[in-house]
Amino acid sequence: MTLHEQHIAIVGRAAEYADFEGLAPGTGLRILAPREVYHPHKWSSTRFLMTALPDVAGLDVLEIGGGSGALSLAIKQRGANRVVATDISEKACAAMECNALLNNLDIDVRHGDMFAPLQDREQFDLVIFNLPLLNKPVANQAEVALCDPDGELLNRFLRGLPAVTKPEGMALFTHANISAPLPLCIPGRIGTVTEMRRCGCEVFRVLWWRL
Ligand SMILES: C[S@@+](CC[C@H](N)C(=O)[O-])C[C@H]1O[C@@H](n2cnc3c(N)ncnc32)[C@H](O)[C@@H]1O
Repeated sequence: MTLHEQHIAIVGRAAEYADFEGLAPGTGLRILAPREVYHPHKWSSTRFLMTALPDVAGLDVLEIGGGSGALSLAIKQRGANRVVATDISEKACAAMECNALLNNLDIDVRHGDMFAPLQDREQFDLVIFNLPLLNKPVANQAEVALCDPDGELLNRFLRGLPAVTKPEGMALFTHANISAPLPLCIPGRIGTVTEMRRCGCEVFRVLWWRL
């Protein structure tokens, strides 16, 4: 079974994650992930981003593609001032609302495409997006969480970032060797880092993750 097939199998069923299966131990966070919503399972990219989170205390945070709400809720629990979470999937938005209630945490869930649900001039200290990573056309609802054909989402995300990020604000997002078409740091080619600089962002930390 390929990694993608394993992901499809996981996303094909509902599951409950307590303490994110050891990801956020001792926090008591419970996450219900319904079918067709990305799961914060043991080898998920959710886990990778959790380990990369900066100190979020007091920050205004935007999460694009909140999925089950696992990251947004963990961020709120860690003391963020406010968390806005958008997702294009209605099911994901319902899961986020449900998990917010379940954990008695207040996050602002908004349904829609990427930055579209934001109000004019809304800006954040930290913007995160655990992107769908696989360069493949989206064939079904489950793949909305997994596939970004031709890096379309990544490109739009990078271009929209400056408008929604406060001066000195920061973005944290995932990119992978199965993504396209912007490989990281390949000299002489338009890579993600080059594209980020072109969009006015400074790249100050790249973390690597290998399954
Ligand atoms: C890899 S999942 C990450 C879910 C969650 N943030 C996590 O880390 O567990 C990617 C999420 O992006 C959402 N998504 C895909 N395209 C989107 C778009 N154009 N606008 C907003 N969200 C989108 C998917 O529905 C999915 O929930």
